Amino acid sequence: MWVEKYRPLDLDDVAGQDTIKQRLRALLQKKAQLPHLLFAGPPGSGKTTTAVLVAKAILGDQWKDYTLSLNASDERGIDVVRERVKTFARYSDRREGIPFRLVILDESDEMTGDGQTALRRIMEENSEHTRFILVCNYSSGIIEPLQSRCAIFRFQRLDEASVTEHLKAIAKKEKLKPAGDSVFAEIYEATQGDLRQAINLLQAASASGELTSDSVKSVSGAAVKSRVSDVIADAIGGNFESARTRMIELTRVYGIPERDFLKYANEALGSLKVPDMAKAISILAEYDYRLVQGAQPELQLTAMLAQLSELKGEGD
Ligand SMILES: Nc1ncnc2c1ncn2[C@@H]1O[C@H](COP(=O)(O)OP(=O)(O)O)[C@@H](O)[C@H]1O
Ligand SMILES: [Mg+2]
Repeated sequence: MWVEKYRPLDLDDVAGQDTIKQRLRALLQKKAQLPHLLFAGPPGSGKTTTAVLVAKAILGDQWKDYTLSLNASDERGIDVVRERVKTFARYSDRREGIPFRLVILDESDEMTGDGQTALRRIMEENSEHTRFILVCNYSSGIIEPLQSRCAIFRFQRLDEASVTEHLKAIAKKEKLKPAGDSVFAEIYEATQGDLRQAINLLQAASASGELTSDSVKSVSGAAVKSRVSDVIADAIGGNFESARTRMIELTRVYGIPERDFLKYANEALGSLKVPDMAKAISILAEYDYRLVQGAQPELQLTAMLAQLSELKGEGD
């Protein structure tokens, strides 16, 4: 996977995000005084990558031994976070050059309000030996008392120039022969500043050995499918607001037809963990029918996501 192969090993190699890099370099001058950090921004903008680079900068070669990476939405609730942080923080051995341990908590905006309140206490109780890097898509999903304990870094969707430069560097290392610059413009168009997707698309499009407009087009349908799948996963996970925002982005910005959205959504269900599959499918079928009847598409898809996100509570 090129996204892994070309994951930046140095802050200088992180594309775009200039202000963030500058602020972090300043903070890393005084490692022992690092505050808790909050990284917010869209997918594929470099948040996790940067969090790991901060860990490496502070903890050096042994960073893995002193860093706990958790995914707030994978782990079953705050209790797991508490237990693991507690166990991890208990070894408060003071090694040379290790000012504290680090916890990187990805998707922290997926935690419930109660979970976040508990997290705040965990942060306080362990503040002497542990620093947190909270990673999320929307800082608005983080309760204010947590936000106020962190230095906040807002990652931006990457601009076309940064993405193109990064993709060209990869293309060169992979000895690709792109059929003109328009290829990169098309990749950007299809991925809208999400560098993870852009690199995946570059790799998929050049799998045949050629990198042309046609090869990009033939795989960017797959990129759209995976985005629809992400939206449905979001809804099924109970995150109605974020699913709705991303659905609207897909239909308005990408211009994908609403019925295609439903078709891809149906395909996506097969590979997702759904609390009640039969019900999920009948919800899709119902809205497919309404769209054929000529109901207002965006409203209907929104209502559909609302219904899908309610399945979660029922399945629990
Ligand atoms: N700003 C960036 N600079 C360089 N590569 C990036 C950047 N953002 C994303 N990538 C690429 O995409 C992959 C995923 O990035 P990641 O840091 O996990 O994004 P995020 O956490 O914001 O979703 C990385 O392995 C890297 O290859
Ligand atoms: Mg990430």
